[in-house]
Amino acid sequence: MSRLWDKGEPLDARILRYCAGEDHRLDERLVGYDVTASIAHARMLAACELLSPQDCDAIVTGLQALGEAHAAGTWQIGLEDEDCHTALETRLTARIGDAGGRVHLGRSRNDQVLTALRLYLLDTLEGLAAQAEEVAGALDRLAVRQGEVALPGYTHMQPAMPSSVALWAGGFATEFRDDAAALRRVRHRAGLNPLGSAAGYGVPGLPLDREMTAEALGFDAVHSPVTAVQLSRGKAESELLFQLTLTLNDLARLAADLLLYYTHEFGFVSLPESMTTGSSIMPQKRNPDVFELLRGAVATGLGALNEALGIVLKLSSGYHRDLQRLKAPLFRGIDLATDSLAIAAVALDGVVFHPEKIRLIEELHAAERANALVLAEGIPFREAYRRVGATLKRG
Ligand code: ARG
Repeated sequence: MSRLWDKGEPLDARILRYCAGEDHRLDERLVGYDVTASIAHARMLAACELLSPQDCDAIVTGLQALGEAHAAGTWQIGLEDEDCHTALETRLTARIGDAGGRVHLGRSRNDQVLTALRLYLLDTLEGLAAQAEEVAGALDRLAVRQGEVALPGYTHMQPAMPSSVALWAGGFATEFRDDAAALRRVRHRAGLNPLGSAAGYGVPGLPLDREMTAEALGFDAVHSPVTAVQLSRGKAESELLFQLTLTLNDLARLAADLLLYYTHEFGFVSLPESMTTGSSIMPQKRNPDVFELLRGAVATGLGALNEALGIVLKLSSGYHRDLQRLKAPLFRGIDLATDSLAIAAVALDGVVFHPEKIRLIEELHAAERANALVLAEGIPFREAYRRVGATLKRG
């Protein structure tokens, strides 16, 4: 199989392999989106009279068949294909002949990859946001089951104020809903149509209709001018990874609380046996590994964010092959967040609080007593604070 850009010169297989990198594996998830984008591109070419209706039909039918066959697992991208774009065009031409060679008029893999990635991102944003809301829903259910259970509220890990399971769970639920809203807002970067920017400088001499592909593909607007498109690669990716890092950190902080509550010494919560793991040497162990792995996941998210930011840092304008390296941290971050949010919702449904084990010391009410003095006697808060402090000292 040859590259789209092959000009007949012999190529060093080692260079090709290194340049293709992981693309043949990573691009598997982009195939369906590249098919959708290519169909919209072909229809636009036909509408602009740059492609005959017959060739357009052959291209659309051929791409649809290839997309279905790929989804059914009939073919995969090979290392020799380089990437999903080459894999599709090569197979399309093998299937429908010369018409296949007409689909690439007015585009480059540089705008093609961004289009497929953005369509994938738009789907993924919605999925991740819905998952964050599911975690919030699991916290709501916990509050319904046991919301009235009193908890010490901690600051500096010291007992501070009276709290409850409803307050504790409600705080996290609000943050996961905020995470969902922030994830959806990444659309302002992912929702722009790159098609028609081609290699980064448009298609001089070709009257393309960029609005038409934007509408067909569900983008909110055309990304223009054409030179903005390659400057933006990595920004939606980094913004998503940033929001995912914040989301993963909410999971980590939730897990940190539950791990403390699960210790033998606290014993505030239990987990069903089916959600704990054992030790190979200590028969008594029931370990809360799921929450430890949730706590640890944010480090990987942060690593992916740093990697994505680092790839685009200080690049001059236009396309550079460096940009291909964005896909690995992007997909790693997305997959980790997808798995982590899914398991968090499952694990939360297994958490049970044990009120009889929750020690609530009198001092938790110290600030409340000072407030009561202010209301009853009209004294300044500072004086009430000192009076309560003095009684606590004597006590
Ligand atoms: N796999 C490439 C990427 O992700 C596709 C674009 C390749 N373009 C090029 N001019 N070599 O960036």
